[in-house]
Amino acid sequence: MFKTEIIKVDPLNPDPEALRKAAEEIGKGGLVAFPTETVYGLGADVFNPMAVLRIFKAKERPPDNPLIVHIADIEQLDKLAKEIPYMAKKLMEKFWPGPLTIVLPKKELVPDEVTAGLTTVAVRMPAHPVSLQLIRLANRPIAAPSANLSGRPSPTSAKHVIDDLYGRVNCIIDGGETPFGVESTIIDVNRRPPILLRPGPLAPEDLEGIVGKMAISEAAIAERPYEGLAEAPGMKYRHYAPEAELILIEGGKVLKKVSETLKKLTAEGKKVGMLTYEEHRKMYPKGVFVISLGSIKNPYSIAHNLFSALRRFDEEVMDVIVAEGLPQRGIFFAVNNRLRKASSLIIKG
Ligand code: TXA
Ligand code: MG
Repeated sequence: MFKTEIIKVDPLNPDPEALRKAAEEIGKGGLVAFPTETVYGLGADVFNPMAVLRIFKAKERPPDNPLIVHIADIEQLDKLAKEIPYMAKKLMEKFWPGPLTIVLPKKELVPDEVTAGLTTVAVRMPAHPVSLQLIRLANRPIAAPSANLSGRPSPTSAKHVIDDLYGRVNCIIDGGETPFGVESTIIDVNRRPPILLRPGPLAPEDLEGIVGKMAISEAAIAERPYEGLAEAPGMKYRHYAPEAELILIEGGKVLKKVSETLKKLTAEGKKVGMLTYEEHRKMYPKGVFVISLGSIKNPYSIAHNLFSALRRFDEEVMDVIVAEGLPQRGIFFAVNNRLRKASSLIIKG
């Protein structure tokens, strides 16, 4: 059991004195949860294998699932990456700092604990004043997975982190809600063609302007939790999941299928939650607990609200959650991917 300290900061203009304490914890091999522009991360000194192992322990994360390394300045790549392919350089120039993780050939210096023994290391430069300042004050790259218990939806507020990790980490920096609300896009440019390993805030369309036509990993589009050896090992688990069973309804005739499914479930006496968006909010019968993610005209708000909605259903203790799939474009690509990974059943409308 740790004594967990909670440090509240202004996300846009964090007090360096407050962050210095957290940075010192990192220096001492401690665990610090901090906000990024995607989701909260659980950070440790990348070059301290014992500290890195503590991350796995705190999250109950399977050891074969490697971590993303966060940097604040390009020079920090010198100790991490053996080389930087031309395409990776171009991506960094255009999208860093930002929600893009790039898989690079790793240097010996990076402990195997971070990369789960892979010869590559996943790196990103987050676009959040708190993450950037924390990394600079710690004066080293920070290895950080999402700051949730393994398998749970990623945390988009300090409260989510507290719910999962209080007593398991040294420090939680509360910097409010994370703007994007879904984890970074992951790309591997060492392959021909480059491959999208995990969809995120940056859509394939955004990246193809730089890297040309991309492949999309099986795990990124798989309809069922992916069983094979995933290219991004973390993508093979049922993930992002609320405790209740989640039924995802996709395709052209979503509304019809949803109403059939709701009828059947309520007839069975199940306590049902409905995950939808503003435009469909009023279409569901009384007795169904409805959460709207926002207007479909504002895709970023839908992504921003996704994980907190899944956690909200858990608080209400549902038997089943029925969710509507979204059109497969832009950031919805990432939202659909997370819904598929959280689901135990997908029905085609
Ligand atoms: O937005 C994000 O990326 C957040 C914030 C905290 O930065 N982090 C995050 O970390 O989502 P995590 O651990 O929840 O997801 C990391 C993903 C996993 O799917 C893992 O398998 C993949 O990155 N990954 C890590 N290193 C890799 C590597 N060398 N090659 C391929 N995939 C890798
Ligand atoms: Mg995660």
